[in-house]
Amino acid sequence: RGLRVADRGFLNTAVIESAITYIDGERGILRYRGYPIEQLAEKSTFLECAYLLIYGALPARSQLSHFEREVLLHGIMHADATKFFGSFRYDAHPMAMLTSAFAYLGSYYGEANPSLQGQTLFTKCAKGDPEALQNMDKQIYRLIGKAITLAAMAYRVRQGREFVVPPTGMSYAESFLYQLDHLSPTDSFSTSSSASPSPSPYKPHPVLARALDILFILHADHEMNASSTTVLQTGSSLPDPYSAVAAGCASLYGPLHGGANEAVIRMLVSIGSPNNVPAFLAAVKRREKVLSGFGHRVYKTSDPRSFIIRKIADEVFAVTGPDPLLDTAMALHDAALKDDYFVSRKLAPNVDFWRHVPHRILSTIPCIGFPMDFFPVLFVVPRVVGWVAHWRQMMLSPEGVKIWRPRQIYVGPSERSYVPFNERE
Ligand code: CMC
Repeated sequence: RGLRVADRGFLNTAVIESAITYIDGERGILRYRGYPIEQLAEKSTFLECAYLLIYGALPARSQLSHFEREVLLHGIMHADATKFFGSFRYDAHPMAMLTSAFAYLGSYYGEANPSLQGQTLFTKCAKGDPEALQNMDKQIYRLIGKAITLAAMAYRVRQGREFVVPPTGMSYAESFLYQLDHLSPTDSFSTSSSASPSPSPYKPHPVLARALDILFILHADHEMNASSTTVLQTGSSLPDPYSAVAAGCASLYGPLHGGANEAVIRMLVSIGSPNNVPAFLAAVKRREKVLSGFGHRVYKTSDPRSFIIRKIADEVFAVTGPDPLLDTAMALHDAALKDDYFVSRKLAPNVDFWRHVPHRILSTIPCIGFPMDFFPVLFVVPRVVGWVAHWRQMMLSPEGVKIWRPRQIYVGPSERSYVPFNERE
């Protein structure tokens, strides 16, 4: 009642007040808790940014060590989970595996489930109850710690390789690379990676590990994107956070969101060479194709993350060797930025356009090639941090959680009477 206009795609709807991430889409600004993304990418680490996003302040040294220890410790999976992963087809889409795996974790941790706790758990958190807050922190450590473990398991299912127990004494990005590539006793091949010449024990290349850490920083949060909104929408009915994160993961899967990075690689491969760029752009303008990695709901001039990735690309390529997709990407980039069709619609490269940078990092790893459909998973891993930061903020909001239940404008038929089969036309 009283609604006249539907806000399709929520172009003009702010659903929450948030102190986490600030974006100015016109000026190309992104800040986490007030700190510019450029400074964080240069000076911080992924887990320090995670702490900042979740708890609101840069940690003291002892707070960071505690956080890192807890997160990395909680990367270890119960042995049963390996059996669960064994039930997927070897060629299942990794995002389908990951979405299921996060939901599966919810079955493990009853203490996170408000319905088993008489719904009082989150009320206690909001009132500052230390035990309830500790419980909440533990779920956060688990979700972030297990994100890399689950992602690596999804990868190794594809390769038919044994899972790797998370290592100790490595950073988050190093641990992820290790779990992807470490040779287990049953691996019958040796690594072909030029960047990691010693096959065992696997030691991640420091330049590549740092580049991956920066990529994780850039992807950690982006305020009310589709998947974070989904996590909050789901979280607003108070399920356990694993279920809310699984819902976010499903949302990120789509080609208009996290699936775009896979689409960028496929697009560049299908274009094949700089010579074919004009024909491809003509097809985009005829609306037969989409220029993946261009355009953004919020950034209308430039995406600051894309400049940072462009900068680290050279360091990555110096280690991995030249990127066969780079010439095509540059030709496409330059032509689109000069073309009136894209300029007039304010379409600039977004963070996903430079997807071939992590592609190069990770193509140094596997013995049988890095599958393209794995790329959205590299987006999920860091975005788990943003999801839990938003979820925690909502759960702790002093006014309590209100279930997200939007309205619609009904445009169907007015009341009519049921018609039996033999009287229908
Ligand atoms: N290629 C060709 N035309 C485009 C593109 C594109 N990538 N993006 C937008 N347009 C056109 C669109 O057709 C429309 O034209 P017209 O006004 O003539 O109908 C105009 O530009 C405005 O676009 P829109 O669809 O209204 O913009 P939106 O805010 O609804 O969509 C978007 C944003 C990101 C979904 C869209 O730009 C897109 O589909 N981009 C390609 C997919 C992609 O790269 N996604 C990753 C986004 S960044 C990471 C993330 O947040 O997940």
